Amino acid sequence: MTASVKQRQVVTILSAVGLTWYIILWSFGVLGCLIARKRYRLRPRSPLASEVASAVPGVTILRPLKGLDTNLYENLESTFTQEYPNYEIIMSVADKHDQALSVVRDLLTKYPNANAKVIIGEEVVGVNPKVNNLIRSYRQAAHDIIWVVDSGVMAAPGTLARSVDALIGPPSSVLNHSRRKIGLVHHVPFAFSSGGGKLGSKLEEAFLNTNHAKMYIALNTIAIDSCVVGKSNLWRRSDVDRVNGSEKFIPNADQGGSQTGERGLAVFGRYLAEDNMIARAIWHELGQRHELSCDVVRNAVGHMTLSDYVWRRVRWVRVRKHMVFAATLMEPFTESVVLGLIGAASLQHLVGLSAWILLLVHFLAFIFVDLDVYASLAGHPLPAATRWQFIGAWGAREILALPIWMLAMFGSEVEWRGKKYQVLRNGEVVRASGHGDTVPFRPSVHRV
Ligand SMILES: *[C@@H]1O[C@H](CO)[C@@H](O)[C@H](O)[C@H]1NC(C)=O
Ligand SMILES: *[C@@H]1O[C@H](CO)[C@@H](O)[C@H](O)[C@H]1NC(C)=O
Repeated sequence: MTASVKQRQVVTILSAVGLTWYIILWSFGVLGCLIARKRYRLRPRSPLASEVASAVPGVTILRPLKGLDTNLYENLESTFTQEYPNYEIIMSVADKHDQALSVVRDLLTKYPNANAKVIIGEEVVGVNPKVNNLIRSYRQAAHDIIWVVDSGVMAAPGTLARSVDALIGPPSSVLNHSRRKIGLVHHVPFAFSSGGGKLGSKLEEAFLNTNHAKMYIALNTIAIDSCVVGKSNLWRRSDVDRVNGSEKFIPNADQGGSQTGERGLAVFGRYLAEDNMIARAIWHELGQRHELSCDVVRNAVGHMTLSDYVWRRVRWVRVRKHMVFAATLMEPFTESVVLGLIGAASLQHLVGLSAWILLLVHFLAFIFVDLDVYASLAGHPLPAATRWQFIGAWGAREILALPIWMLAMFGSEVEWRGKKYQVLRNGEVVRASGHGDTVPFRPSVHRV
C-alpha cells in the first residue's frame, strides 16, 4: 500500500468521524428546537389558577433583593400579579438602607391585599450573600413549596400555577427515569435588553434567546445529569432540609430519609452558585428529577458593553475548565463555526460537494433553527424592525465564541460581583485579593 493510499484512508476515517459528530450535534440542536416548539408555543392556563385556596398547595415566593436592578419594579410586580390562589411573597434585603426598599414600599402600597412582606437583615451562614440574605425568609416561609426568583427576573401571571402543575405532576422527560419524582421546576431565561441596549446586551440577548436556550432545553430533555441555571427555581423546603450538598445518595430518600448533620439552605451558603448546587443535591442525594414548565422567565439584561459580555463568558469558561475539563475542551466543536467547518470538510471529502456551498447551507440552517427557537420562546417571530440587528448580534456571538474560549483557556482569574477570585485546580476558588479564604465554588456547567 503506498503512502498516499494510506493517507487517503486516514482522511476518510477522519471525515466519517467528523460527519458522525456533525450529525449528532445537529440532532441535538433539532431536538432542542422541536421540544421548544412543543412546549412553549401553547401555554394553556393551569386549572390550579382558578381553584379555591384550600384546594392547591401553598407557595412561598422568595425574592432576594439588593440595589436597584434594571427593571426592578416590573420584575417584582410580576410576583404580585400571579394567578394562583394560595401564595405569599417574602422579599429579603440585607441592609435597611438598600435602595430596593423604596420599590418594595411602592408595591406594598399598590397591592395592599397581597400576602406580602419584607424581611430586612441578613444572617451570615457562608460566603454567599444571596443565601445570607435569604436565610431568615426561608425559615419564616409559611409553605413547603418555595419559589426563589432573582431580582432581575420577571414572570408571566400564569407561571406559578403551571410550575406547581409541573412540580406535582408526572414527569414528561423522554427517558422516563423509572418514574422519578420531580423535585425542582426551573424556567428557561429569555433575555431582553430594555431601552437603547449596548452591544454586549445585544450579544447576550442573541445568545440566550437562541443557541443557549436550544442547548439548555435539549440537555434537560435528555436529562443525563442536573443542568439548572439559577434565576427562577421551585422546590420543596422539606427536600432541601434533607440534603447537605455532598451529592451522596441517601439510600432511604424515598421514605423521607435525610443526611446526618448540618443540612438545608444554610449549608449551600458555602457555594457561590447555590441554586445550581441545590439542584444537584436534589438530583443526586434524593434521586429526584427536574422539570421545565412551559414558561420562560424574562430576564432584564442591563447595560452590558462588549467587554462586559466577553469577560462574563470568559469567567464561565474558566470556571467550567476546572470542573469538567474534557467537556470544556470539546466546547468549540459544538459551536456553529467549528462544527460547520468540520461538517463541510467531511462532506466535501466523502461526497465531493463544494465546502463553500455546504458552509453556506450550514449557517442558513443554523440561523433558521435558532430563530425558530426564538419564536417558540417569545411566542412570536423575531420582529421585523429588529431582525437585522438581531441577526448581526447573533453572527457576532457565533464568531466571538472561539476567541472567547481561547482567551478563557489561558488564565484562571475570574471576577464575581466585583470581587476577584482565583479558580483552583479542583474547582474551588480563593479570593485573589483580600484575606485569601478558600471558598468552595461549584457553579453550573451550563450557567448563564
Ligand atoms: C412516565 O411516568 C409517568 C409516571 O408514572 C407516566 O404517567 C408517564 O406516562 C410516563 N411517560 C412515558 C413517556 O412513558
Ligand atoms: C453530608 O452527609 C454525608 C452522609 O450523611 C456525610 O458523609 C458528608 O460528610 C456530609 N457532608 C457535608 C458537607 O456535611
